[in-house]
Amino acid sequence: MADSYDTQNDRMAEWEDRWQNGRIAFHRDNVNQNLLNNFERLANGRKELNFLVPLCGKTVDMKWLAGKGFEVTGIEGVTKACEEFFSEQDVKCNVSDIPDVPSGKLFKSEDGKIKIYNCDIFSLSSETLGQFDVIWDRGSLVAILAEDRQRYLGLMKSVIKPGGKILLEVVEYDWNERKTKGPPRPFFKHNLEDLYGNWCAIEEVGRYDWLHRDLARFQGQWGLSSLDNVQYFMQVISSTSS
Ligand SMILES: C[S@@+](CC[C@H](N)C(=O)[O-])C[C@H]1O[C@@H](n2cnc3c(N)ncnc32)[C@H](O)[C@@H]1O
Repeated sequence: MADSYDTQNDRMAEWEDRWQNGRIAFHRDNVNQNLLNNFERLANGRKELNFLVPLCGKTVDMKWLAGKGFEVTGIEGVTKACEEFFSEQDVKCNVSDIPDVPSGKLFKSEDGKIKIYNCDIFSLSSETLGQFDVIWDRGSLVAILAEDRQRYLGLMKSVIKPGGKILLEVVEYDWNERKTKGPPRPFFKHNLEDLYGNWCAIEEVGRYDWLHRDLARFQGQWGLSSLDNVQYFMQVISSTSS
């Protein structure tokens, strides 16, 4: 079933509108609990890891990870989100062009620990981005249009190092119940097996009932009878070159 985002010629237009009008209920002021819960396992005692945060918005997780000494690369299509990240987190940055990405901008903290590519994620490649030890995917896979999903996975496969880890947060609900279609789109374990099963080991590491945390919104406005937030720890098990 199509959702309102599918009808956009420009896939960023709806997001631009959300950011301009403060409709960013996905944003959290605190570091994500799932990231905190799984951090030791992700880092495994290593200090020199680099993290990719696709579709990063202005998540405070990036500053937290950089504070641990890691290199963090975000990708975000809306300039306002990038600007607000650096101003609100009080991190000084420089802005430059991205070679071969017309109108794309690279925001880079002065200490070089945090970079945000400000452009459509699909204008980037592994040649530009490099390779990562960890991908922190919260609000990213679930935000990607269904028609772009394979392209998204292709990019993730091309930028993750052999043996790399992906921490993923998704939601489970009945898409047919939802009154106004849009992100976050639901993913059940069998969907993830289809998308990641042949190149990653997939382990559910957490789940909570999200419906009852905001019944007015999820039951009242969205029309859902159940909604779970589910977290997965995944590790690359096979070559990602194909
Ligand atoms: C659901 S939000 C999640 C933000 C962040 N991961 C968080 O946890 O707060 C998705 C973000 O992706 C951005 N976005 C959506 N589609 C994009 C695309 N094709 N390229 C780059 N950014 C995109 C939106 O502007 C939005 O900030």
